[in-house]
Amino acid sequence: MLRKALLVLLLLSGAVFGAGSEKPLSNGLAKTPPMGWSSWNNFAENISEQLIIETIDAMVANGMQAAGYQYVNLDDGWQRYKGERRDHPLEADPVKFPHGIKYLSDYAHSKGLKLGIYSGPGQSTCAGYTGSEGHEKQDAALFASWGVDHLKYDSCCSHKDAPDDVVKTVFATMSKALMAQPRGIVLHACHCGWSNIWEWAPAMGINHWRIGQDISDDFDYPGNREGYYFDVLDMLDRGVGLEKYAGPGHWNDYDMLVVGLNGKSVDLVGAGASNVEYRTHFSLWAMEDSPLLASADLRRLDAYTLETFTNPEVIALNQDPLGKPAKRVRSRDGLEVFAKELADGSWAVALLNRGSPTADMTFSVHKDLNLPWIKYTVRDLWKHKDLGEFEIPYTAEVISHEARIFRVTEVKDKP
Ligand code: GAL
Repeated sequence: MLRKALLVLLLLSGAVFGAGSEKPLSNGLAKTPPMGWSSWNNFAENISEQLIIETIDAMVANGMQAAGYQYVNLDDGWQRYKGERRDHPLEADPVKFPHGIKYLSDYAHSKGLKLGIYSGPGQSTCAGYTGSEGHEKQDAALFASWGVDHLKYDSCCSHKDAPDDVVKTVFATMSKALMAQPRGIVLHACHCGWSNIWEWAPAMGINHWRIGQDISDDFDYPGNREGYYFDVLDMLDRGVGLEKYAGPGHWNDYDMLVVGLNGKSVDLVGAGASNVEYRTHFSLWAMEDSPLLASADLRRLDAYTLETFTNPEVIALNQDPLGKPAKRVRSRDGLEVFAKELADGSWAVALLNRGSPTADMTFSVHKDLNLPWIKYTVRDLWKHKDLGEFEIPYTAEVISHEARIFRVTEVKDKP
């Protein structure tokens, strides 16, 4: 009896004090990595109601919605005022968004899509607009009243050198403020991969967190462009070892996809990448369970780029319910093998050639995947082709900067 009473007391105290103490928070959202589009990389502050409406329409018309993309996210620059929050309110720019933000989320919802917005925990954001500091509850309520479904909360500029405890506090404050709202709002913590955010973000109800500084539109730029940006391979390397922190509801975010920018973005630095390199980038973001947030102009995608964005077999790896990101299981002389376990017992394997010469690359289900399988099938997820049954290691030709992606499945002998 006494034990029962103690247990009830314990449970009750967890419910009452849990939000502020060790009890992990969860908003129950983003069970698979969010898929969508974000305005920053291609448009920066040059965003408008018309652009968002046209992007929503494009996502529906070009097949991306049917392929799983849902979020259309306003990044920085939607706000009315530049300057500090103590001097200005947070409002939508009436020239860029004459009908306000609710009008856009109503439009997105009417098409079966979702709308995202951007703010930050400082007095001002990275682009110098009013932030949310001191107004977190008020802003969370405002975003909810606008029908917003996703918030990118960016501390990269305001809290770059802040102690970890302060960073944790500002994200906990917004996470709780969002969870108090009557609608579910996915929370993206953009802290540019600092403060070991992956260690504490999942318990705070944060759905994805950037693992690194901003991506540039480059596949493999020597060093960091402008001493800051990460190219595709830098970001991939940054994620090695972080796989264990991700899972349903909480994901490592490798930053927006630069697929299709082709070095022509007005704002984002970078020389662009080849079609093969962009496809490799897409495949690896999918394998790593990163959110898939396109950033190119969806109204003007060429057929190859659209095919990259909408490959259902590669997207299925990203959206697999098991939610286990790929691990780099082998790396030698620029030839790397990544392996990802899937819910149905099959595995995805990526063979990445980071070097220049074409290479014959091999993977072994025993040595690389640690599986006792005797016989297995291999399917090429870009050629959409079954390649047959194998009992020995599988070898494929991989051209420079390509990642061949396979799904391998055990062949079980019939009883
Ligand atoms: C950066 C962030 C970018 C973009 C930009 C907006 O801190 O990493 O993704 O959101 O701010 O000003």
